[in-house]
Amino acid sequence: MSKNRPVVIGIAGGSGSGKTSVTNSIYEVFKEHSVVVIEQDYYYKDQSHLEFEERLATNYDHPLAFDTDLLIEHINELLERRPIEKPVYNYAVHTRSEETVLIEPKDVIILEGILVLEDKRLRDLMDIKLFVDTDGDLRIIRRLLRDINERGRTIDSVIEQYLNVVRPMHNQFIEPTKRYADVIIPEGGQNEVAIDLMVTKIKTILE
Ligand code: C5P
Repeated sequence: MSKNRPVVIGIAGGSGSGKTSVTNSIYEVFKEHSVVVIEQDYYYKDQSHLEFEERLATNYDHPLAFDTDLLIEHINELLERRPIEKPVYNYAVHTRSEETVLIEPKDVIILEGILVLEDKRLRDLMDIKLFVDTDGDLRIIRRLLRDINERGRTIDSVIEQYLNVVRPMHNQFIEPTKRYADVIIPEGGQNEVAIDLMVTKIKTILE
């Protein structure tokens, strides 16, 4: 492990845009080296004190849904090469789990999530800022498949949430953060040229 300051890469983009594929492609290259992924989703505010119905009514696409103070604290700890206890999030019950995961500091920190470019304090910690830009029709198709198969949702609930919350919040809060990106990656992880450019840049910073 290098003694230099770790490299922080922010990967933003709408739900279903392909952030995870971009993250995985970069992770694969550096996994032998030293890389950790921090998912903004895991930093949704703890809602265990609320009734299930109240948790259902929460707007999960609004910046205030996240415990950004804790996320910033954790990134700063990793930058100081200290370990953190990363929260674990449960989408089926819409709150944080009791368990946490011990994360050791690494040379490359990938911070991935819909709104990671929204807060200036987070942006200021990043060396590279990416925005994965994918059309809304592809994003809703991907989201439908994922939320039904992996997050315990019904078709009706996904469509209703998309039209009433996800889409308007995307337009209001997520899309505007594109202007903060150093690089806008169309179509996520399939974009090999963009991934190669990123990998080269990260290697340069690490050296
Ligand atoms: O992985 P992805 O970027 O799609 O995750 C963010 C999405 O997760 C948000 O658009 C939000 O609507 C959704 N979410 C949810 N239920 C929760 C927490 C987040 O549907 N309890």
